[in-house]
Amino acid sequence: MLNRSLQFANRAGGRYAWCRLTNFVPPLYSFLNDEEWAIIESWYDETEKEQLLGECNVAFMSVLQGFVMGSAISNIIQLGHFAGYSTLLLGFMLRRMKKKHSLMTVDISEHCCNYTQMWIDRAGLGDYVRVELGDSANATMVEKALKLFGASPRLVLIDSSHQFEQTLHELRLWYPSVERGGFIFLHDSGPYAKSFDSTNKGGVSRAMEEWLVSYRDARAINIYPPEDSYAKPIYMDPCGIGIIQKG
Ligand SMILES: C[S@@+](CC[C@H](N)C(=O)[O-])C[C@H]1O[C@@H](n2cnc3c(N)ncnc32)[C@H](O)[C@@H]1O
Repeated sequence: MLNRSLQFANRAGGRYAWCRLTNFVPPLYSFLNDEEWAIIESWYDETEKEQLLGECNVAFMSVLQGFVMGSAISNIIQLGHFAGYSTLLLGFMLRRMKKKHSLMTVDISEHCCNYTQMWIDRAGLGDYVRVELGDSANATMVEKALKLFGASPRLVLIDSSHQFEQTLHELRLWYPSVERGGFIFLHDSGPYAKSFDSTNKGGVSRAMEEWLVSYRDARAINIYPPEDSYAKPIYMDPCGIGIIQKG
């Protein structure tokens, strides 16, 4: 147990790259108690067997952890949860912060919703996390969120289709609902991830850029490594992270 993610340094595959490049357990994993870490360890083993690969990584989640736990941020919306990696970790953070009913996570795939719900139940996080099946840009999701929280969202995480138009719709729908001073985080906001857009229109990167032109009260930063440092970047997620704050 003490070694936690150090054991992953010997494993092949992109999802373990962070562990191969470092030799310490990140706060993202060391803050977990033994039972919680056992869930994450099983999650890695089982999703590896089922080849459910596609979660965001330690670098992205660590930035998020700093924001969420550093400022006790609740009322979080997640757009795209896939197999539940970031949903589980956010659920553990919110439980530590004693913030019930404070994460709503949306995915268009029924299988992903059932799979993530199964892990939420295994982790005993049902009081903290609500899984919703549906489209991330559907206005009824905003109503559901307001009802669940009884307040505006403070943080929206976008890691869904990666398509330019869908991301633009998500930004236009969710930004007005966010509390002033609150945040939208976008995963895969760098040029490296443009190819993740199946419509080939420039993905999250272009959506963020174009959306910002018409939302002048928003403050934003897009962080991604220079192209020639993808193998050993300073910010250790070549896909990038976009952060928008509602002004
Ligand atoms: C990259 S994965 C998310 C990974 C997740 N954030 C994690 O850390 O494990 C993208 C997810 O977005 C979902 N998705 C794609 N288009 C969507 C849409 N229009 N609405 C909601 N979810 C969508 C996919 O089903 C998939 O599960």
